[in-house]
Amino acid sequence: MDRIKITGGRPLEGIIPISGAKNAALPLMIASILTRETLTLHNVPRLSDVRLLMRILGNHGVDAAISGKRLGQSEESGETITLSARDIVDTTAPYELVSRMRASFWVIAPMLARMGQARVSLPGGCAIGTRPVDLLLMALEKLGADIEIDSGYVIATAPKGLKGGTIDFPKVTVGGTHVALMAASLADGTTIIKNAAREPEITDLAECLIKMGAKIEGAGTSQIVIEGVARLDGAHYAVLPDRIETGTYAIAVAMTGGNVLLEGARADLLQNALDHIEKAGAKITVEPTGLRISRAPGLLAPVDITTEPFPGFPTDLQAQFMALMTRASGSSRIHETIFENRFMHVQELARLGAQIKLEGDVAIVKGQSRLKGAPVMATDLRASVSLIVAALVAEGTTTVNRVYHLDRGFEALEKKLGRCGADIERISGEG
Ligand code: EPZ
Repeated sequence: MDRIKITGGRPLEGIIPISGAKNAALPLMIASILTRETLTLHNVPRLSDVRLLMRILGNHGVDAAISGKRLGQSEESGETITLSARDIVDTTAPYELVSRMRASFWVIAPMLARMGQARVSLPGGCAIGTRPVDLLLMALEKLGADIEIDSGYVIATAPKGLKGGTIDFPKVTVGGTHVALMAASLADGTTIIKNAAREPEITDLAECLIKMGAKIEGAGTSQIVIEGVARLDGAHYAVLPDRIETGTYAIAVAMTGGNVLLEGARADLLQNALDHIEKAGAKITVEPTGLRISRAPGLLAPVDITTEPFPGFPTDLQAQFMALMTRASGSSRIHETIFENRFMHVQELARLGAQIKLEGDVAIVKGQSRLKGAPVMATDLRASVSLIVAALVAEGTTTVNRVYHLDRGFEALEKKLGRCGADIERISGEG
């Protein structure tokens, strides 16, 4: 198992190219099941989650291929993936695969919409909470699906096809909105999604579906209206830049000081987080090719955050912001409202010297912590990268174990940081 070794104390200077968004690429890939034609996705990040999803889709009969490098492309350019679901040969998504990646549960929607049936394993719990799928199933039921749970599997059927309906989510859910969008695109009649998630990744999926021939209005707002169509076609679509990767590197620069251009980043995808990072003491400017983050030496200001659905502060940046606040001049409050158990990084940050007290869903971070390198590991992707952020300023050397979590969501992290002056290396082998 690979490890990452970081010796802290160096400012970051240079350019970091921002990859395509993992959380947009995954639902876009799943949407390929909706059509017999080829869906070509550009700017796909090189991540283990993308590779795993290609395998999962392959199991249903989707031919997935990565195109070779084209003239003018560099190693940083995202990949182009073609997905052709000419014939769906298997409508079962087995436990062994779904339990490795929760988002693969979403295949239930396009399979049901196109084939009238799907048998998908319940994903089970995960490191950031219980994460039920009741709202996803409720959405499918509102579109006329029969849902049964048997031996850990959801069996969804709609022999006569799905019918448009009104889906009113009692709670904002990204996965629920993705599932509703995909299913409603091929349902008969009009679907209204109320209290829809407004995340940029939802808008990305809707725009791709529209290119494939779907009739969708209101994506990016809390009410989406879908007029079902009988079939969808192939399309070419480029994945939007990763706002969580953007925010993570912005926080890293705020942490170490320095000056970095986040190439390809878009401020509108994470304005709330950028505002908080600025409050903490970084300077952020929009440039024609991306976002520039800089911070002069000196103490950071303590800033409170509360995670919320988009356009609020994203839960996927909570751990990284907590790492940043360990170096603020005073105490800050980090309130997690999306997931009930997303504080697993607290104990690992403590191993580096952070002083953080947990009070239910609030973490109180005492600033001015003297961070010192140590071996650490984390149980999820964003928690792991918060340890990298902390290690960049910790005295001495930190070894981050279980790097496979990072590889799920951060393309070439050690190269991107290394090229900006960080003392960071990947050590291959047992860990
Ligand atoms: C997506 O997960 C992301 N995953 C998560 O990113 C992200 O943290 C999350 O949205 C919130 O922004 C992908 O896009 C692949 P939800 P998702 O449904 O769709 C509850 C990362 O690190 N809920 O919006 O699973 C749920 O428990 C990952 O990249 C129900 O109660 O999140 C949570 O409290 C981690 N019943 C809240 O809603 C349901 O049926 C929001 O979850 C569904 C969700």
